[in-house]
This record gives sequence, C-alpha cells and structure tokens, in this order.
Amino acid sequence: MIIKSAEFVCSNTDVKLLPAPQLPEYAFIGRSNVGKSSLINALTRKKGLAKTSQKPGKTQLINHFIINGEWYLVDLPGYGFAQTSKKNKAEWEKFIRAYLTKRENLQCIFVLIDSRHEPQKIDVDFCYWLGEQGLPFQLVFTKADKQSAVKTDQNVAKFRKTLLKWFEEVPAHFITSAEMKAGTEEILQMIHGVNSG
Ligand code: GTP
Ligand code: MG
Repeated sequence: MIIKSAEFVCSNTDVKLLPAPQLPEYAFIGRSNVGKSSLINALTRKKGLAKTSQKPGKTQLINHFIINGEWYLVDLPGYGFAQTSKKNKAEWEKFIRAYLTKRENLQCIFVLIDSRHEPQKIDVDFCYWLGEQGLPFQLVFTKADKQSAVKTDQNVAKFRKTLLKWFEEVPAHFITSAEMKAGTEEILQMIHGVNSG
C-alpha cells in the first residue's frame, strides 16, 4: 500500500470523544518503550508524526492518525511502565480497556513485543486478556535490528509456544525494525487486505 497522506487527528482519554467510528481502525499497543510510536512513523515514513522518546511513558493518550483519508492508525500509551503510580496504572487499565472493548471500528490490535527478550509475563497476560475478550490481534516483534536474526527467531518461537498453552491457534506475527524500516510493507499489506476485503 502506498501512503499518500498521514495526519494527526486528535488525542483523547475519553472513549466518548473519539472520532466517529466510520473508518476502519488499527491500534498499536504493548509495553512502554517497545517502539509503538517509532513503528507508526516507520509505517507512514513520517518522522515525528507520533512522538517518541528514549524514556518509557512518552505516549499518554489515545492518538488518532488518519492515513490516506481512509483509515485510522492509533498510537496508545504503553503498559508495564515501572515508574508510574498505582493510580496511573489503574487509570490506564480503565481507559485503554474501555477503548479496546468498545471501539466498534477496530479491525485489528497490533500487540508489539520486544524481540530481544524471552516471553514476558505482562505481554503473555495481555494477549490472554485479548483472547478472552474475543478481540482480533496480531503480534509484532520490534527492534529486530538489535540482535541476530537467529536470536530474534528463537524469541519469537518461544513467545508463540507460550501462547499455544492457551490458544488453539496463535495469530500471525510480523518481525520489524523501525530503525531499518523492516517489516513495514508486510503490515501495510495486511491492513490493505482487511480494508479492501
Ligand atoms: P511509550 O510511548 O513510552 O509507551 O513508548 P513507545 O512504545 O511508543 O516507544 P518509542 O517508539 O517511543 O521508542 C522507544 C525507544 O526505542 C526510542 O529511543 C526509539 O528510538 C527506540 N526504538 C524504537 N523502535 C526501534 C527499532 O526498531 N530499533 C531500534 N534500534 N530502536 C528502536
Ligand atoms: Mg509511544
């Protein structure tokens, strides 16, 4: 898919204030600092569209971007940010879970997982929760430029194996690097398929 335009629309914490759910929507979620905002910039080839930072906890709101005037990409705050208060964590849980379960035009949730690590409980638990809710998701392994392809493949295989304890079928996965702009075409192709199907 060719990205002709990618524009910021709005930021929200209140599900009631989101753009009218008339266009297909795709959300990026995952642990703080996993690379959600960076991958959105790599997909759209627009540096600085979504705000990124070396410090975890940069994205705090539900951010909508409109692509080609036809569909929404959504950048979400990360989970598992250690330095946040209990109150903040509870707030996050509330508004993100409300968004994910109530957003009727949400076609797919991309769960980003850091490809450098062995399966982390927080990511596995989150996928389990999505499965329980019957929400459609796919796995996106990030930062593949940081280690060898062999190491990445090992971590991907371990993560899929962990999910297989709970799921009969594990959703598709993508291996990406925002740094190298790798895996972005595959994600856009999948989105294109859903949008035109
Ligand atoms: P929060 O908004 O805090 O939840 O973080 P996020 O998931 O949006 O992460 P963000 O995109 O801000 O990236 C976090 C850090 O990781 C930044 O320093 C990025 O430059 C770096 N980063 C993201 N993706 C990649 C990647 O593919 N390769 C490398 N080497 N670094 C990356
Ligand atoms: Mg972010």
